[in-house]
Amino acid sequence: MQKQNKPLKDYILSLDADEWLFHADVLVDKAHVVMLEEQGIIKREEAAEILKCLIKIEGDDFIEHELPSYEDVHTAIESALIKEMGEDIGGMMHTGRSRNDEVATCIRIALREELLELMKEVNELKRAIIEKAVENVDTVMPGYTHLQHAQPTTFAHHFLAHFDAFARDFSRVVNAYEHTNVSPLGAAAFASTGFPIDREKTAKLLGFDSVLENSMDAVSTRDFVIEAISCYANLMTNLSRLAEELILWSTSEFDFVRIPAEYATGSSIMPQKRNPDYAELVRARAGTVHGCLMSVLSICKALPYSYNRDLQEVTPHLLKATKTTTASVAVMNSMIEGLELKKEEMEKKAQIGFTTATELADTIVRETDVSFRTAHKIVSSLAEKGVDKVALKGVNEVARAVIGKELSELGLTEEKVKEAMNIALNIEKRAVKGGPAKKEVLRMLRTRKMVLDTDVKSRQAKEGKVKRSLEELEKEVEKKISSQLTSNGR
Ligand code: ARG
Repeated sequence: MQKQNKPLKDYILSLDADEWLFHADVLVDKAHVVMLEEQGIIKREEAAEILKCLIKIEGDDFIEHELPSYEDVHTAIESALIKEMGEDIGGMMHTGRSRNDEVATCIRIALREELLELMKEVNELKRAIIEKAVENVDTVMPGYTHLQHAQPTTFAHHFLAHFDAFARDFSRVVNAYEHTNVSPLGAAAFASTGFPIDREKTAKLLGFDSVLENSMDAVSTRDFVIEAISCYANLMTNLSRLAEELILWSTSEFDFVRIPAEYATGSSIMPQKRNPDYAELVRARAGTVHGCLMSVLSICKALPYSYNRDLQEVTPHLLKATKTTTASVAVMNSMIEGLELKKEEMEKKAQIGFTTATELADTIVRETDVSFRTAHKIVSSLAEKGVDKVALKGVNEVARAVIGKELSELGLTEEKVKEAMNIALNIEKRAVKGGPAKKEVLRMLRTRKMVLDTDVKSRQAKEGKVKRSLEELEKEVEKKISSQLTSNGR
């Protein structure tokens, strides 16, 4: 006989995501109840009873004990309320709303918190990068293209490039925050409600910047989730490139840096090992976050409007992506803070691989009437011959072979060749906007410090605004409860 196919209750759950939404859901319930009372949809006494019960639920070990027995967090809280106070009053809380607008509102509140936390970590990382750059304005290192020695630069110039990438990540996260912090509450299932609810009021109490207007859009969209995870994916890609550099730079081949001991691990067999596991995991977790983005895009693709249960499957990917990204930024931040640089090694390696070849070609252009392409040919055949000490004599020899003339006849001097071969001068000459010359790097450092200051303040302003609204909500809740105690209803 075929085994009976009983429905698997667990299949419908998403417990981790629901735990994540619990505190947001209690806030949404409080704001909704305060508004229902103010609009005369429920009575003062009823609102006060419900609010008292919500405060109790909030304080209980609800997540461990109650949550797992219900379909989702929204049903769990409402059921607990009804169990505690009966359906006559407990059953009023869900008037004029649906789980569809409720869950969308909860996700936005929970995500908003995460984005604020991420902004903080990104700013810390930017600060750590600036500090390392300040200490290393004069630290010469080889710059690479194709991972081959290319031209000399400084560690400050290189690190400020990472700063700029993370500053762009920050502004992308701010955009995602702005698209997240709008209130879908009051959209109900999708067609809003016939009760005279006040959507502006709940939006304000919950710290949203505005109302997400069209009620069909409000419950259907998860584009703000896609946007947030896209920002994470971009940020993790940037982070993984920095992680990769730390991994490379800490090898015996490069030997540019020492990763702080807390972020290196030993080997179970090789006593000498200091493996860069944390950096490797940052690099790997970029892949995890990219996977979350792909999952969410695929889940949302071609879904008919408005709500479908598919949307529940989005939230765990958001949670995973958000936690992974913030933790990775935090790890990178401390790794950078404790990073030790081996300045002499870097400088020594900057001499290897004829990194001054471009400057020699440029010098030939400036000192003679030879075009850049011809100068490139001359220096390139010099490089091919593998001359280790470049002097005017050697340049003349190859020039004779390439153009049939010696460059000293055209104005090139020994002194100019020597100057071209000097690493420090190579860097100093690259003083155009954004170049590695000290003066330019110092200017960039000054403006980046200002960018960081502005970013810190803009995050604080957002956090403060939400905090004040939520304090206002708690005050309104207290007011309803205490006025019930004095007047015993109306
Ligand atoms: N747990 C659900 C979610 O995350 C809540 C919404 C359920 N709505 C419904 N119409 N079944 O999406």
